[in-house]
Amino acid sequence: MKHLITPLDLNIHELDDLLTLAGKIYRNRERYKKVCEGKKLASLFYEPSTRTRLSFEAAMMNLGGNVLGFSSADSSSVAKGESIADTIRVISYYADICTMRHPKEGAPLVASMYSGIPIINAGDGGHNHPTQTLTDLLTIKELKGDLNNLTIGVCGDLKFGRTVHSLINAMVRYENIKFVMISPPELKIPDYLRKETLDAGNIPYLETSDFESVMPELDILYMTRVQRERFFNEEDYIRLKDSFILDNNKLKNARKDMLILHPLPRVNEISTEVDSDPRAVYFKQAQYGVYLRMALIMKLLEIPDPYQKEELC
Ligand code: CP
Repeated sequence: MKHLITPLDLNIHELDDLLTLAGKIYRNRERYKKVCEGKKLASLFYEPSTRTRLSFEAAMMNLGGNVLGFSSADSSSVAKGESIADTIRVISYYADICTMRHPKEGAPLVASMYSGIPIINAGDGGHNHPTQTLTDLLTIKELKGDLNNLTIGVCGDLKFGRTVHSLINAMVRYENIKFVMISPPELKIPDYLRKETLDAGNIPYLETSDFESVMPELDILYMTRVQRERFFNEEDYIRLKDSFILDNNKLKNARKDMLILHPLPRVNEISTEVDSDPRAVYFKQAQYGVYLRMALIMKLLEIPDPYQKEELC
């Protein structure tokens, strides 16, 4: 049985295959509306979510399946002290596949060790958020046409931002990728990521806190929120939260075809005036998340593409 705990659980061929299927579903959504009839998704969210939870649920419904689950730890028996291992053993009798978000790093991995059904990590603490990364890759592939030869700026909370960590891990597998890391010194990427992924893979990168000077170099600008919930003290959060705010003025020297992504939710880091810029694709990105998750559910449930042989675009 296959689970998705980190973006690296998919090799590059499986990843390309998944993105191709997601693109096909996006353009031919009506054709896929019954492929999961009779199947159930357990949606276990121990931490708040709008996009991930609801797009997983929409994805399963779009495929003709059903959804059960909870959206906060308080409404499950974890509030009485039940372990992840026991919870997932039981849920395995109720559903065919499970998506789990948890504030503790590694919780979905633990669940996968005791599960009788595929587990999808929907975000574990500051660690990983693989389906967000797959959504980001689908967005870039669909809108840029290629995942190679890109200079990617990542900006904001690079220390705690699990979406950034997952994105870096996934993108280093493509050709001619460069990173520009834009953050306050306190929120730089973790050392393990710098050493084990970037340095070990000879991936070119620059770390800076000068947002505007690097703007003209970027093909992708990936903005992130400074996450209040990951800080140990409120003073640090207040001091750092508005370090980088993207507005129309800062975009003056950006490339005309640069894409602005953000996993959302946004707080202040992108001014709403940017929303009408054609380069701002963060809401489109959230839409792609549904089709990516439809493709992922099919793959993990080993449901063959009924249109594999048809020339669907
Ligand atoms: N991008 C993302 O994970 O959003 P939610 O926290 O709303 O799921």
